Amino acid sequence: MSDPILRIENLSLSYLVGDTKFRALKSVSMSVPRGSVVALVGESGSGKTTLIRSIMRVLPKQAVIEEGKIYFEGKDLLSLNEEDMLKIRGKKISMVFQDPISHLNPVMSVKEQLIESIELHRGLKGKEAENEALRLLSLMRLKDPQRVLNLFPHQLSGGMAQRVLIAMALASNPSLLIADEPTSALDPTVQIRILSLLKEIHENENLTILLITHDLSVVAYIADFVYVIYGGRIMEYGDVHRIFGRPLHPYTKDLLLSLSGRSFSEPKKSGTLLEDACPFAPRCPQAIEACFKQFPKYVNLNGGVVACHSVNVGRDDT
Ligand SMILES: Nc1ncnc2c1ncn2[C@@H]1O[C@H](COP(=O)(O)OP(=O)(O)OP(=O)(O)O)[C@@H](O)[C@H]1O
Ligand SMILES: [Mg+2]
Repeated sequence: MSDPILRIENLSLSYLVGDTKFRALKSVSMSVPRGSVVALVGESGSGKTTLIRSIMRVLPKQAVIEEGKIYFEGKDLLSLNEEDMLKIRGKKISMVFQDPISHLNPVMSVKEQLIESIELHRGLKGKEAENEALRLLSLMRLKDPQRVLNLFPHQLSGGMAQRVLIAMALASNPSLLIADEPTSALDPTVQIRILSLLKEIHENENLTILLITHDLSVVAYIADFVYVIYGGRIMEYGDVHRIFGRPLHPYTKDLLLSLSGRSFSEPKKSGTLLEDACPFAPRCPQAIEACFKQFPKYVNLNGGVVACHSVNVGRDDT
């Protein structure tokens, strides 16, 4: 994969709660090529937000990074001091969140917030800054940008608020946009419009996007490349067509089934799960003894990469 803008290597992270330690990420590696849309997919609690918070270095204090490196444009983010991190966070890497309203300041108008962002990042002032604000709002396909500029957050619909938030994220001219469930709080017709918009901006401005979602239909629509995460482990990754056309991991197959309205598998087997086990083992219809003991190695298969003992057993070359 050529020129990754973001590269995560063997990231392991635990949350310390009282005397107990919970491993939320286990040896996570990931690569986001410049100019691509990469999706990170997994159900609630799989560690998606934790991974994003690690990249942005906005982890709660109970979180401990135990191992790993995060490179952004070649810089090791985990070794930067806060001053250098401030040059990256919200600037070169921008974020869009699930609940846009709560990320807007309720007592400032759209104009004040957007212009503040433009002045800070672009160094524009007065009329020039206002024109740029109007341009960004038009880019976001807001019908009457001049009117929207004078509204306060509580006067925006959910879809409008998300468009404003994306406009603010673009104000810094980021090279990477991280969107954490950007459309899951919106109704389906608005979701698709916001996604089309992200896709358009990605294509027109050559913006790299890391999209976090639990919704595979969103992935099919916008992503080039997909990572599937479960229990803090990357289960499978590959080109979007390969993941949809020939999913390898039982969990990925399960996610795809859930798209057609079938529910997730429930725990089928009991067994003691060792610390290094595959986290999906208790729910997996194909689990074998090894799955409860040791997480499998990643193997290249059918143009993708998968970590699964039972897939390995079924391979022709083993
Ligand atoms: N501050 C915290 N202290 C302790 N445990 C935490 C903390 N934040 C997250 N966790 C745990 O880490 C795991 C991963 O949480 P995370 O928020 O990263 O999941 P997620 O994939 O983003 O889920 P969702 O789709 O619901 O947003 C969960 O088991 C969660 O309980
Ligand atoms: Mg989350």
